[in-house]
Amino acid sequence: MFEHLDRLDPDAILGLMAQYRADPDPRKVDLGVGVFRDSNGNTPILDCVRRAEAKVLAAQTTKSYVSAAGREEFNQGVLDLVLGHSHRARLERRARTVQAPGGCGALRVGAELIRIAAPTATVHVSTPTWGNHIPLLGGSGLRLARYPYYDAAAHRLDVGAMLDHLDQAAAGDVVLVHACCHNPTGADLTRADWEAVIDRLERRRLVPFLDLAYQGFGEDLEADAAGVRRVAERLPEVLIATSYSKNLGLYRERVGALIVVNEDEARATAVETHILQIARSIYSMPPDHGAAIAATIFADPELRASWQDELALMRGRIQGMRFLLARHLRDVTGHDAFDFIQHQRGMFSLLGVGKPVVERLRDAHHIYMTQDSRMNLAGIMEGNVRYVAESIVAANRPSQAAAPRHRAERS
Ligand SMILES: Cc1ncc(COP(=O)(O)O)c(C=O)c1O
Repeated sequence: MFEHLDRLDPDAILGLMAQYRADPDPRKVDLGVGVFRDSNGNTPILDCVRRAEAKVLAAQTTKSYVSAAGREEFNQGVLDLVLGHSHRARLERRARTVQAPGGCGALRVGAELIRIAAPTATVHVSTPTWGNHIPLLGGSGLRLARYPYYDAAAHRLDVGAMLDHLDQAAAGDVVLVHACCHNPTGADLTRADWEAVIDRLERRRLVPFLDLAYQGFGEDLEADAAGVRRVAERLPEVLIATSYSKNLGLYRERVGALIVVNEDEARATAVETHILQIARSIYSMPPDHGAAIAATIFADPELRASWQDELALMRGRIQGMRFLLARHLRDVTGHDAFDFIQHQRGMFSLLGVGKPVVERLRDAHHIYMTQDSRMNLAGIMEGNVRYVAESIVAANRPSQAAAPRHRAERS
């Protein structure tokens, strides 16, 4: 059965992780993997998570099955966070939420739902986008197309190009939009851009699929949901994939949800039965432990306040590194061409250099990033930000220096 299966190339990120681990140089810097790191380089368990987990374990009386929809109180908490308490779609009972194994699970269940409801629809995905969007959505058999999103030369969003593309999309097509903290560019739609995009979606009768994986990493929990709420206010049908991997640091617990907003309550009920059947046919039921922790935090005012504080610290650390890296790059180069790093949002920015520079950064300077030059800003520490800036400049000038002039002062 398996004799004709050739060995696949290793996943780009996993390959990079292995190379980083094997590098003995003490100066090495990991900007590749998409996880938050604190100022000691750790991906911590949040204090609110530890406390909620203790409560969950103390109260737990069974490990019996949950249900295909997951925990009801988690799903309600997700709706509160994403749409708010009094969103029209909720009051009219048009929004349904199903817990899923992480944001990836939610994206895949959403893709399967689209395939059942509209098998000929094309899903339009931004260029660039998070690498896993392609197999997650394409793997369900849907046709994918790409819309321009980012002006790489100017290091900013090109909403005009995006709108022009949407003007050509066929009615009934789906448009995947990053709700905040675009991965990998850090370039987000402004309030006005959202309105323009919604106008196009409405006029062209396109269905938005919003990926909300970084709620709270941009501005705060409320502000980062503003685009999603506005889309769900103005359009009758919306899919939303949400994840608690990053903002609760629950990566390996696989906590996410798919929200589907429908035209009316009867449709919502019918659509929900399809989502549950899809879940049953893939993994039957989502894992419970992480969702139980999340639901405990959502419902407990004290834990929730602590979460908001910890989220603000994570966000502040990333913003701080953005600021410092841009400042050191300005200092080393004498120009402000890298200032865009400071103004973008979320964990990622594209440095905007070619593959040879990425390879030189890795081989000569022990700085690891993906081939598209995506940097995880949370991978930089105060003790090596100068080293990173100098290395970036040196790697861009290969003939002058194989290594930066100054050794990094390390904390
Ligand atoms: C844009 C985007 N969407 C979705 C996810 C899914 O995250 P998870 O499945 O870990 O919850 C990620 C994770 O990196 C992401 O970057």
